[in-house]
Amino acid sequence: MTSRVIISDVAPRDGIQSIGAPIVTAEAKIALIRKLHQAGIRRMEVGSFVSPRAIPQMAGTEAVLAAAKALPGLECTVLVPNQKGFEAAIAHGADRLGLFMSVTEGHNRANVNRTRAESLAGLTEIVKATPKGTKIRFNLSCTFHCPFEGEVPERDALDFIEKVVAIDPEMEIGLADTTGNASPDQVRRLFEQAHRLWGTRFAFHGHDTYGMGVANVLAAYEAGCRVIDSAAGGIGGCPFAPGATGNVATEDVVWMFRRMGVDTGVDWARLLEAADYSASIPGALPGGRMRGVPAARKAA
Ligand code: COA
Ligand code: ZN
Repeated sequence: MTSRVIISDVAPRDGIQSIGAPIVTAEAKIALIRKLHQAGIRRMEVGSFVSPRAIPQMAGTEAVLAAAKALPGLECTVLVPNQKGFEAAIAHGADRLGLFMSVTEGHNRANVNRTRAESLAGLTEIVKATPKGTKIRFNLSCTFHCPFEGEVPERDALDFIEKVVAIDPEMEIGLADTTGNASPDQVRRLFEQAHRLWGTRFAFHGHDTYGMGVANVLAAYEAGCRVIDSAAGGIGGCPFAPGATGNVATEDVVWMFRRMGVDTGVDWARLLEAADYSASIPGALPGGRMRGVPAARKAA
């Protein structure tokens, strides 16, 4: 096991998508992305190619992606739910497609207005049609818990993951705790089993609704996960997951890994600048602890 993790910051997408009003300008999103890049973050979800009626904050992702692509060494992911989003993502040169659907029927219908079978069939076609140079992350929302169906039995989650693994022998698969209701032992067991069955190719995407965000990241890490999603400032949430709050804060995750001697490639002082900016975006509901710990703020 290497002691290095990849942080994919999702504040520009997951963080901003749930803000009702005001609409965040492309300039503000680009400013956030630049600050995160200056802090050393080299993977980000910069936006979504989804229906602007479903997620008004993600309209204009083309311009944000173009600006993000100009930053050296940054791998830009955009979320893609269907063929139309796929075509836009390819046309605008996304480095990685963030395909997404839910493990549970209830959340999949609420989020993308499709049955799981319809989504799985559509996304399978997209995976097959993706050009060689474009990477894929296949995100599974509600892998642990669903706002409509409650806790997801591990057997059901593994059965669903197996179907996704079958689409492509190598693609990265994101296991998402969309509601923040997963418990660390649940996260650990699922990652251990998934890694044992299908290799170390799983990423963890967690929310901090119940204060379990960092504990869940640690559980995933200790089970071998090396790609972690988090949002600077702890902003975020899925508008179609009632009650869910922000992503686990990047600064909380990076602080933990610093204390553990695990390399994230992130500059602490600059990350705090990005996190402060993220938390101050009008309408955002920030979370996380580290921005408010004076001694930690001085530990550049
Ligand atoms: N990008 C932009 N517009 C899109 C689109 C996409 N990827 N997919 C569909 N649309 C548009 C269609 O062009 C159509 O527009 P029109 O009414 O002006 O002709 C409209 O949306 C409806 O299209 P339809 O295919 O019937 O979609 P739908 O209403 O069944 O919605 C989704 C399905 C997936 C497009 C929609 O639910 C969605 O965008 N969900 C995203 C949810 C999300 O991002 N959640 C957060 C991440 S977890
Ligand atoms: Zn999320």
